[in-house]
Amino acid sequence: MLQRAYPYTRMRRSRSSEWSRRLIAENTLTVNDLVWPIFLIDGEGKTEDIASMPGVQRYTIDKLIPAVEEAIKLGIPAIAPFPYTRDDLRDEKASQADDPNSLVCRMIREVKKNFGSDIGVICDVALDPYTSHGHDGLVINGEVANDQTVDVLVRQALVQAEAGCDILAPSDMMDGRIGAIREALEENGFHNTQIMSYAAKYASKFYGPFRDAIGSKGALKGGSKATYQQDPSNGDESLHEVALDLEEGADAVMVKPGMPYLDVISCVKKEFNVPVFAYQVSGEYAMLKAAIENGWLDDEVLFESLLCFKRAGTDGIFTYLAIEMAKKLSTIR
Ligand code: PBG
Repeated sequence: MLQRAYPYTRMRRSRSSEWSRRLIAENTLTVNDLVWPIFLIDGEGKTEDIASMPGVQRYTIDKLIPAVEEAIKLGIPAIAPFPYTRDDLRDEKASQADDPNSLVCRMIREVKKNFGSDIGVICDVALDPYTSHGHDGLVINGEVANDQTVDVLVRQALVQAEAGCDILAPSDMMDGRIGAIREALEENGFHNTQIMSYAAKYASKFYGPFRDAIGSKGALKGGSKATYQQDPSNGDESLHEVALDLEEGADAVMVKPGMPYLDVISCVKKEFNVPVFAYQVSGEYAMLKAAIENGWLDDEVLFESLLCFKRAGTDGIFTYLAIEMAKKLSTIR
């Protein structure tokens, strides 16, 4: 370091006015960074509130179309649909997962019919919205069975690609699923369907409100996903997971949850230099909203909660704040 210390160097000099702070800013948040996760329900003309996620709703497909139109007008690049499956359609085999007429597939077709390539559609590949037990895979002899689950995930990926999904995002954490899905996509002519792998996904308590939103919490009955999702104490293991998924053909990788795992995001970006995404998950959203509603935090904390992902090295962020933040960003210079 050649710089001479105080008083020649005063760190506060460049912070002394607003224009100067803007000029030296290392990172910015723009609407191009935001992915909007959306919850779906069957039926028509309905929206439903989710108690543990204030301000977030489930939409029927017809109600969703104007909401997606608004997202496009705001400049949001992509949406990520998650279905709330009717109880009578959940079963041991996750039958809805590879049904071309599932709620998600119908929604993809409707969004693509209305908006074409004006917005990207990123679909989860995992079985938890569809299984009667709430696990992301098939349970065989009391265990979440890896290879049998991968077969179903491949079929799920293909029906979603066929319906027009732009990016498949496997969030199930089975081993070998990225390679199996990539191979099936190539064989079936889906050369340009991208894969964004939830490569580093932790067994986290921060997913609680999401499981309310898709109705899998009751099904899971307190059961743990620790045999397939990662132990929160591990960091190096994430680099191993990411390396494998890239080798198997992932175009982009995800770290999840977000804010408690910024160290992991930063290591992944530095090590691999590939597109890295983060998911500001339901529990992070619920914490922030609850504190703001109680007057314990100022709502400007929301911007900070997303900007920190950029500093850590993410290229994009899944956030339930996407619409709210896109509106705010259009007024911030
Ligand atoms: C399911 C899935 C989960 C989330 C996204 N996809 C939950 C889980 O793994 O139990 C969580 C998202 C959130 O909490 O906002 N495969």
